[in-house]
Amino acid sequence: MTDRSVLITGCSSGIGRCVADGLAARGYRVFATARKPEDVERLQADGLESLPLDLSNSASIAAAVDEVLARTKGRLYALFNNGAYGQPGAVEDLARDVLREQFETNLFGWHELTNRVLPVMRRQGHGRIIHNSSVLGFVALPFRGAYNASKYALEGLADTMRLELLDTDIHVVLVEPGPIISRFRANSFAAYQRNIDPESSAYRDRYLAMEQRLTKEGPVVPFTLPPEAVLKKVIRALECRKPRARYYVTFPTYLFATLKRVLPQRTLDRILSRV
Ligand SMILES: NC(=O)c1ccc[n+]([C@@H]2O[C@H](COP(=O)([O-])OP(=O)(O)OC[C@H]3O[C@@H](n4cnc5c(N)ncnc54)[C@H](OP(=O)(O)O)[C@@H]3O)[C@@H](O)[C@H]2O)c1
Repeated sequence: MTDRSVLITGCSSGIGRCVADGLAARGYRVFATARKPEDVERLQADGLESLPLDLSNSASIAAAVDEVLARTKGRLYALFNNGAYGQPGAVEDLARDVLREQFETNLFGWHELTNRVLPVMRRQGHGRIIHNSSVLGFVALPFRGAYNASKYALEGLADTMRLELLDTDIHVVLVEPGPIISRFRANSFAAYQRNIDPESSAYRDRYLAMEQRLTKEGPVVPFTLPPEAVLKKVIRALECRKPRARYYVTFPTYLFATLKRVLPQRTLDRILSRV
């Protein structure tokens, strides 16, 4: 499968690292990207083909794609859009810049990178664009507005692009994990500390409870799975002749997808407000 190259973003930890390792072990040619030079060096030292890619920076996206294509003679089988973070905070406490920053990484960067590799896939006549979305791409939770909005918007772009590419052999796939063990919570806590001031918020007490959850070690939500659960679905999305539009990962994702279909919004809201 060495002719099958896959570009992955956000490989410094969590799902990205696991998928990079898993696909490399399966024989794919993996380009495991990360935004910090020290992570690129670590990935290289661990035997992965790694290069820098910061999704909030257009020049970095362009340079990474150019380098990958130079190494693959202009071919790329798949893109796994993965690098992202969660900005916690009540919607009314999100400054415009904070929301923009969330979208720069979680949406605009993914969109720009996708658009850069799409011509390659068109030229070669096939390709896979796999987005790591979330259960929070189709149901909302309080205090996750920025992240929710970025993933809902991602789902909108992906659903549209799938329709636009319907008569091609380029497949757009959404993987939708529920809780997965990774550095996501630790990185969310850092974003919370950077951008939210609990003392000036109407939600001060709720934030203090949230701080405890964000700083806890180990899974805080039942049915949390290791990142290998996502890897399994990514492999399906890469190797199925006709991949599905959506792959759910974890019981909570299946559960909320069903509840969203069958429950009145008011009832669903009551459940989500208590999660
Ligand atoms: N963990 C979950 O429960 C869960 C559930 C559903 C969906 N997801 C999705 O899974 C994906 C991976 O998250 P994870 O759980 O593996 O969390 P993670 O361990 O925090 O990994 C996130 C990765 O994204 C990278 N990243 C952040 N900002 C970036 C930027 N500007 N440019 C490039 N990379 C950037 C991080 O790099 P740095 O180390 O440099 O920050 C890190 O490598 C995300 O899209 C997330 O939304 C996670």
